[in-house]
Amino acid sequence: MDKKTEFVNQVKIGFFRKLRNRFWYFLGYIGPGNKLRVFANRRRGVHIGNNVFIDAMVHIDTAVPHLVTIEDNVKLSVGVKIFAHNSVFQDINPQDPIILSPVLIKKKAQIAPNAVILDGVTIGESSVIGACALVNKDIPDRVIAVGVPAKPIKNYDEARKAFLNSAKR
Ligand SMILES: CC(C)(COP(=O)(O)OP(=O)(O)OC[C@H]1O[C@@H](n2cnc3c(N)ncnc32)[C@H](O)[C@@H]1OP(=O)(O)O)[C@@H](O)C(=O)NCCC(=O)NCCS
Repeated sequence: MDKKTEFVNQVKIGFFRKLRNRFWYFLGYIGPGNKLRVFANRRRGVHIGNNVFIDAMVHIDTAVPHLVTIEDNVKLSVGVKIFAHNSVFQDINPQDPIILSPVLIKKKAQIAPNAVILDGVTIGESSVIGACALVNKDIPDRVIAVGVPAKPIKNYDEARKAFLNSAKR
């Protein structure tokens, strides 16, 4: 277990803060326009860099949004879900702790529709996560990763070279 992971019994959020977070959550989830969605998610505490695109219906952790960092020029496509906590043990055994573990999406990473990113994961710079992938482990820089669980299948630069060659034909 790496040192950034924490075990807590509960995430304490006051009633008014919860209400406020909910308001920004809905705007961040379904608000018209990227600027509004980015603004709303920042207000909830998500760390978001410059020139980030957050499509509609992107879910970013509701319990600990401040544990999610999205660096510059990242794109999150429609339906992406990001979780920075895991309460599966506590949900069944209330005396068990919740796991909190930060998520980091590095510069220029592109996350395709409906990908799910679990707690503790880092996605590398300029990497692409394929549609419907389940990312439960770190993904290195400059790869294309797909599947459940997500695994790198290609080097991004080689895939790009092949793509540009095919576009010339
Ligand atoms: C990640 C992605 C770009 C990969 O495309 P690609 O590099 O052209 O991949 P390929 O088509 O060459 O596929 C390579 C292998 O991975 C598999 N694969 C590709 N995408 C996959 C995915 N999302 N999930 C699971 N497997 C996938 C292919 O079936 C193939 O497997 P095989 O070798 O056993 O036949 C693409 O799958 C994807 O998710 N595109 C989403 C684009 C998008 O976001 N569109 C909407 C917003 S613009």
